Amino acid sequence: MEAEGLDDLYPPQEDAINAGVLDGKNLVLASPTASGKTLVAELAMLKHVLENHGKALYLAPLRALASEKFREFRRYESLTKQDGSSVRVGMSTGDYDSTDQWLSRYDIIVSTNEKADSLLRHKAPWMGELSLVVADEVHLLTEHSRGPTLEVVMTRLREINPRIQILALSATVRNAEELGEWLKAGNVTTEWRPVPLREGIYHDGQVQFRDGTSRKVEIQTSTPVLDIALNVLNDGGQALIFTETRRSAVEMGRKAAMVLKPKLSKPEERALDTISKKVLSAGERTRLSEALASEVASGAAFHHAGLAPAHRGIVEDSFRNGRIKILAATPTLAAGVNLPARAVIISSYERYESGLGRYPISVLEYKQFVGRAGRPKYDKYGESLLIARNQDEMDWLMDRYVLSQPERVWSKLGVEKVLRPHVLSTIAAEYARSEEGLFEFFARTFYAHQYGPRMIRGKIGEILRFLAKEEMVVMEGRELVASKFGRRVSELYIDPVSAVLLRDGLFNRAKKLTDFSLLHLIAKTPDMSPRPHPRGGEDEKLSLLASQHSDEFMFEAPDQFEDPLAYEEFMSELKAVQVLLDWIDEASEEQILELRKFEPGDLARLVQGSEWLIYASQELARLFGHRDLAAPLEVLRVRVSKGVRSELVKLVALEGVGRVRARMLYNAGFKSVEDIKQRSLTELMTVPTIGPALAKRIKEQAGGLIHADEWEKAKTAKPSEVQEQTVLTEYRDRQE
Ligand SMILES: Nc1ncnc2c1ncn2[C@@H]1O[C@H](COP(=O)(O)OP(=O)(O)OP(=O)(O)O)[C@@H](O)[C@H]1O
Ligand SMILES: [Mg+2]
Repeated sequence: MEAEGLDDLYPPQEDAINAGVLDGKNLVLASPTASGKTLVAELAMLKHVLENHGKALYLAPLRALASEKFREFRRYESLTKQDGSSVRVGMSTGDYDSTDQWLSRYDIIVSTNEKADSLLRHKAPWMGELSLVVADEVHLLTEHSRGPTLEVVMTRLREINPRIQILALSATVRNAEELGEWLKAGNVTTEWRPVPLREGIYHDGQVQFRDGTSRKVEIQTSTPVLDIALNVLNDGGQALIFTETRRSAVEMGRKAAMVLKPKLSKPEERALDTISKKVLSAGERTRLSEALASEVASGAAFHHAGLAPAHRGIVEDSFRNGRIKILAATPTLAAGVNLPARAVIISSYERYESGLGRYPISVLEYKQFVGRAGRPKYDKYGESLLIARNQDEMDWLMDRYVLSQPERVWSKLGVEKVLRPHVLSTIAAEYARSEEGLFEFFARTFYAHQYGPRMIRGKIGEILRFLAKEEMVVMEGRELVASKFGRRVSELYIDPVSAVLLRDGLFNRAKKLTDFSLLHLIAKTPDMSPRPHPRGGEDEKLSLLASQHSDEFMFEAPDQFEDPLAYEEFMSELKAVQVLLDWIDEASEEQILELRKFEPGDLARLVQGSEWLIYASQELARLFGHRDLAAPLEVLRVRVSKGVRSELVKLVALEGVGRVRARMLYNAGFKSVEDIKQRSLTELMTVPTIGPALAKRIKEQAGGLIHADEWEKAKTAKPSEVQEQTVLTEYRDRQE
């Protein structure tokens, strides 16, 4: 404690200890944002590792949160265990087709729910050694996309390791007790927060707080949200604004930049200028990164999922270190992170989803947003504000959000599509060997706890019939076992429906098998999600693309009039293909943004998902004996992963050589690895952005010998003048 610079435990932490969390008791700790739930987890993990020869797994819902926790937990590496060795902290979030055996040597392991699920499918042996699992943000069980995975992981971990201790950390929810019953855990629920958070509602120059007090806000602009933000700044704080859409985040950031600019001191301007330049030099330059750089130069920024990961990182860091004063973000920033926001301003409490229309966010979500304000590390108090347009709305918001309890958490496992991969993985990893065994397993889930085990039985039967028909599971005597195909599908972490599509596509073939064929095949799978939505007016271009490639489809295209829904899906498959084709033809991120209205962050996710699906196709092609596809799929996988044409595939394998450098090397006459091996360092350095150290690294990898005098000469040589250049000039604008 003292070493941590903490004087006292917070009351929820004391309650948790009194409830036996350090004596191996299961616990659901439901406590407000910023109430120090992580420390309870840390103490429990250390207890296991330092005193009980145990091993702990910390589950986080998102990679960003996992990384934040991993960085924090690493400070425990200085502690020594009973056997004299030091504590080892590891993180595992990537590659879904591996057991990560190296983790067996670690004591504290941070992972995402998905990664833990994939490790369980691979039966990573070390998972049987876990003595503690911490599930962070466990209220996310109620979320459609991530909840079911978490639920299955927790059920499974208890199954393989009946004595495992469970610590579930949750926001305050209405049914924490029910969660506790499911997990056979005690329950500590508190309303305590270390830093007072004043929740209020703004209307017409005045903020009305929950506690009855109010405050005037000077109206300086035509945007209430900004007036509040400026008010917070005057008071020495930073403001975080949650907006509904990406576009409104960019726009709000821009407005904030305009009002902040004249207020900057010279040193502030200089510091911001440096960050702004960093934005421009990190990753590819696009209109989006330019917009960001320009906002950053004035001390404001936006943050949303369309930003390239490198840019998102810079924004988070600069908000954390106080250089950026006003940050406008979409809800992607909300879960569990610690940020120095004195105030959180929610500019819109509505969301739009196609099919659902507009609806107000949940109280749970609202509490997560406002919980980013007033974090103990940064502020002595915090406040959150909703914006009302009139008195009526003000009363409604007060009732609906400020004075309301968050909703109950409901399991979302009961949907066939969601359940299907988990049924397969339960059989494939031999966690169940019969239909009855399957029922028993799923009877232990939170879903069964809430709705009763009968509800899920029918669905499982339905799924089993599908899996049997597609030959992923077979009956061997009385035993239910997975075929080789079924096992591989489970391990590859793809939806069984995707696997069927890939298998059939690889068998059927197209009249003419091309990159287009293969890309469309993966784009068609349900694992390609979310697929990009074509914008208005794009359908025509996409139909044209389809007709140009009509010989290359592995499946028949749907008819626009006979099946309009399927056709709509088809259009979005084609959009994904089109973007991927641009990308592997070396279109720049800017061109893709301009031409396809597709943002760099989305591109990064599309590329990652596609690479995975191509990898899965390779594995299935191998399994089904399509040897002729091995080479084309491998080339395509590298091209998609790096965004290059075929001639660069070998060059990008060199470390330190990405798509941009590879193209420059190629154009400068270094067309192969052999070329690099043969030429001198100074010759390599004529290529823009290649300095002596990098030249050496590249040449060494190419297997070239570097003589001492060559290195001396390189070190003193003048690096190429051109440092920044819009490369990828060869990209021909496609037929429009
Ligand atoms: N006993 C303590 N004394 C002082 N600071 C503490 C104490 N316990 C935790 N903190 C600090 O409080 C901050 C918030 O803690 P933490 O991130 O664990 O909150 P949380 O309860 O998980 O909130 P959220 O629900 O938003 O994830 C951290 O910066 C942490 O260092
Ligand atoms: Mg937390």
